[in-house]
Amino acid sequence: MNKLIGITRNFSNSTSLNAIKTVTVVGGGLMGSGIAQVAAQAGQNVTIIDLKPELLEKAQKSIQNNLNRVARKAYKDDPAKIEAFVKEASDRIKISTKIEDGVNVDLIVEAIVERLDVKQELFNKLDQLCPENTILASNTSSISINEIGAGIKRKDRFGGLHFFNPVPVMRLLEVIKGDHISEETYQTMMAWGKSVGKTCITCKDTPGFVVNRLLGPYSAEALRMYERGDASARDIDTAMKLGAGYPMGPLELADFTGLDNKKSILAVMLEKTGNPVFRQVTIIDKLVSEGKYGRKSGEGIYKYNN
Ligand code: NAI
Repeated sequence: MNKLIGITRNFSNSTSLNAIKTVTVVGGGLMGSGIAQVAAQAGQNVTIIDLKPELLEKAQKSIQNNLNRVARKAYKDDPAKIEAFVKEASDRIKISTKIEDGVNVDLIVEAIVERLDVKQELFNKLDQLCPENTILASNTSSISINEIGAGIKRKDRFGGLHFFNPVPVMRLLEVIKGDHISEETYQTMMAWGKSVGKTCITCKDTPGFVVNRLLGPYSAEALRMYERGDASARDIDTAMKLGAGYPMGPLELADFTGLDNKKSILAVMLEKTGNPVFRQVTIIDKLVSEGKYGRKSGEGIYKYNN
């Protein structure tokens, strides 16, 4: 019995589940490295493509560390099993700076910079280079799936796979149905999400999908409360943790996801919905202009050591 079941689900005998055996992740940053890790843990062969070799090396190191942590938890007293698990999963991951090295696969998940023009250019190229059966997906958190795929021919084999940070820990995957996705592609995406240990929900190509549409107003209101001085940052976070049972407070969460990301998500949501609850928050503008993005830069609403 595989002790890692649930975090390392293997394929079942369903046809669609078996469809995805090889995966390429384009963008080896925070999200891409996590997506590559869960796919490798599930027994799939993964290629990570990034523009910068140093980021690929960083991704490999962080995956290795995470795999070690997962294995130590699962095989506490068995160093041989820990080593074997880490080696097998790591060996399934290849890296490259050339997109051509990642095109002959069943599924490509894009996790590059959150810009429509850059994503469109990448997908137009992938559409030309990939075999006909390759499914293409974007991990965008705020851009329209239909707009990203506007220039590709295989619109039936394209959709959104929206993971959450940190990918190996967060259990949700939002599967986004663009207007032209085929039922077969959608079912294959759902099955693949399950195979990498996620619980999948389905959403139309609507601004913010489910989680960010609901989280955005909550988070923006918490930041405005802090800005007005209604309560301190600690008290706002404590209030929502102890009074509403949330595992993290809204300001801690904003620092964790990155205030720069929050700023661009709010801008897109305001543009797409016209709902003033998504208007910019002055404190975010100020902190982002000072390079204070949250945890990743060492300071945001809070200060962090390392
Ligand atoms: P990141 O900045 O950590 O990583 C992006 C990576 O993409 C970088 O390593 C960069 O060198 C690489 N890259 C940029 N353009 C490229 C290209 N044309 N070809 C190959 N590689 C390229 O960003 P992060 O946070 O991993 O976000 C990636 C995507 O995931 C974005 O679309 C973001 O909106 C989405 N996302 C982010 C979440 C988060 O909490 N950070 C949550 C869910 C989705």
